[in-house]
Amino acid sequence: NGALGEVWNEEMSSSMLGKRLRKVVQNYQAMNKYGVRYPGPENAAHRSKLSGPELLCQIKNMVQIATLTQDMEPFSGFPWASQLPPRQITADIGPFKTCAVVSSAGSLKNSGLGKEIDAHDAVIRFNAAPTTGFEKDVGSKTTVRLINSQVMASEDHHFLSSSLYSAGILVSWDPGPFSSDLGEWFNKTDYPIFKQYQRYRRLHPQQPFYIVHPRTEWQLWQRIQDNMVETIQKNPPSSGLLGTVLMMSLCEVVHVYEFLPSRRKTELCHYYQRFSDAACTLGAYHPLLYEKNLVKRMNKGSDHDIYTHGKVTLPGFMTFDC
Ligand code: C5P
Repeated sequence: NGALGEVWNEEMSSSMLGKRLRKVVQNYQAMNKYGVRYPGPENAAHRSKLSGPELLCQIKNMVQIATLTQDMEPFSGFPWASQLPPRQITADIGPFKTCAVVSSAGSLKNSGLGKEIDAHDAVIRFNAAPTTGFEKDVGSKTTVRLINSQVMASEDHHFLSSSLYSAGILVSWDPGPFSSDLGEWFNKTDYPIFKQYQRYRRLHPQQPFYIVHPRTEWQLWQRIQDNMVETIQKNPPSSGLLGTVLMMSLCEVVHVYEFLPSRRKTELCHYYQRFSDAACTLGAYHPLLYEKNLVKRMNKGSDHDIYTHGKVTLPGFMTFDC
């Protein structure tokens, strides 16, 4: 079973990281930029490890994908409120039968997964991940693109003009305060998400564009921390996990590609760039290591699928009752 031994072990802890990365993670674990107050899990005294199905139920019941709408304060009082969607993303799109989540990991390179990915009814991609020139490995269909506020704001991404962002439905997020108070967030976003949103909407008024409510991010964060023995980074989960839960809310079945690395695992950060850093796969700012432990625990597919395709199978929330 030597080969299967190489797939992600759901008990990964920061002690298994290299020295440099361990230091970075420890620094983030000690920092608390967003004012996280974690009282501990409700049943801390006799906390036992949840099974995969129990964990799926916890996430289904305790994480709500919410997006900003025109009627929410303080936005409802702003002249540009009408640029925001009138309804929640979950009311507007789906349900889909099968969905693919395409992480941007370097291990997608030479995977030949493009056809399999494109065969899904809906495909979500992240940030600046391109398809042009990479179709063989990542496919070409983009139904949703989830982007962080850094991509929206940084000069080198050309967010307002690049054709990369004009396909599909856009969904963006920025780390808000743990309190999820929208007024507080509006006054101190990490990057100027609202300024860029308004500009983009003026240039592309027909393209659907949602903004994730910061509450969703922190609900997800609490599910990760509750189910880990270690103290995790007090930072929001990665786009990859957020997008996975978004698709679980919209689809009957979700296949996640190369979030749990296959036999192609590599320190190459993204399939579309020449930059290498183990932190991209194991996390530094994001509690990515722990996100992967959770996803491994919820996986309904086989270790063989992870090993050969980097593929995890998750059931959509609509397909099970808790
Ligand atoms: O780097 P970026 O956030 O754009 O990548 C999209 C998502 O893919 C990440 O948020 C992370 O969840 C996942 N990813 C990964 N391993 C990598 C690169 C990205 O798991 N090497």
